[in-house]
Amino acid sequence: NIYEKTTTAPVNIAVVKYWGKRDTSLILPTNSSLSVTLSQDQLQSKTTIRVSKDFKATRLWLNGIEETNVENNQRLQACLRATRLLRKEYENSLAISGHVNIPPLSEWNLHICSENNFPTAAGLASSASGFACLVYTLAKLFELPISATDLSRIARQGSGSACRSMFGGFVAWEMGDNTDGSDSQAVQIAPETHWPELEALICVVSDLKKGTSSTEGMQHTVKTSELLQHRISKVVPERMRGIKEAIKTRDFKKFAEITMRDSNQFHAVCVDTFPPIFYMNDVSRAIIRLITEYNNSGDETYKAAYTFDAGPNAVIYAQKENIKEIINLLAHYFPSTLDLNKEYFNDHAGLFS
Ligand code: DP6
Repeated sequence: NIYEKTTTAPVNIAVVKYWGKRDTSLILPTNSSLSVTLSQDQLQSKTTIRVSKDFKATRLWLNGIEETNVENNQRLQACLRATRLLRKEYENSLAISGHVNIPPLSEWNLHICSENNFPTAAGLASSASGFACLVYTLAKLFELPISATDLSRIARQGSGSACRSMFGGFVAWEMGDNTDGSDSQAVQIAPETHWPELEALICVVSDLKKGTSSTEGMQHTVKTSELLQHRISKVVPERMRGIKEAIKTRDFKKFAEITMRDSNQFHAVCVDTFPPIFYMNDVSRAIIRLITEYNNSGDETYKAAYTFDAGPNAVIYAQKENIKEIINLLAHYFPSTLDLNKEYFNDHAGLFS
């Protein structure tokens, strides 16, 4: 017998960034973070998992290519272990309540096939949607009776930012205090319908693979940056309160200011790392200048907010009414950021909300 399930999961882009772990194997962060989940029409991971007593080994294919060394992939194994344990408990509870012929899926090998519908060339992080999708598919396949927040604690062990992709809309990853990670989980602050005017525009500055991975970079920062200590103790707690308030009241100016300041400070702690880590390039910085000018050109209200992850690509948040103007601006000054993935952006206009 083969049992099979397919699900999809979205990408999320943080506006208050996660950068630093206090526990690298459980993936427990040094600060809370908050993100916006992008619409799945354009960007998503899709995972199909089959389970059968006839499979000789657990195997994994990423975008059509089989991964070797699945047994030594600790993050994958952590997610499999946690979901199989829950399945085992579920099988036991069914048996106790008199059910017979429950397939022992928790004991069988898996064939996992995961792909992204966005080009790897877009240089966008895929680990968040990928691990969220893996865990969600396992939960469905195993018919686990647990909540998205419970699942977020498992997805977190695949990749920290993945825990936030368990929800749509506006999502906080509350860092938690417990050493076992039992309170380090994602919660939805507001659904996507709460602020439908908010959109995200992705500008591909470079499609080259980044020099320093997030996983590696953030631990260098934890070890060497004094500025990070200030950020996690003084700055982020206040920003988490502020951004939640801005989202609640749909206050774009406040949302934009916190988003841009937090991106700036995240890149500042990268530069404060020793030796320094540079993720942005000249084009990234020119986009910051353009958005700054644009925001200062009108009245008191802001019209756009930039944010950059561990690479040079920009994500611009703006409200619907200003998106066309922003695309025209970018198309004028940085046409290549919109047409590096010409085919892709022609199809989709590069718009995600
Ligand atoms: C800059 O979640 O990719 O995008 O937990 O080691 O897998 P690991 O790191 P990852 O780091 C993401 C860092 C970031 C900020 C964010 O998404 O909050």
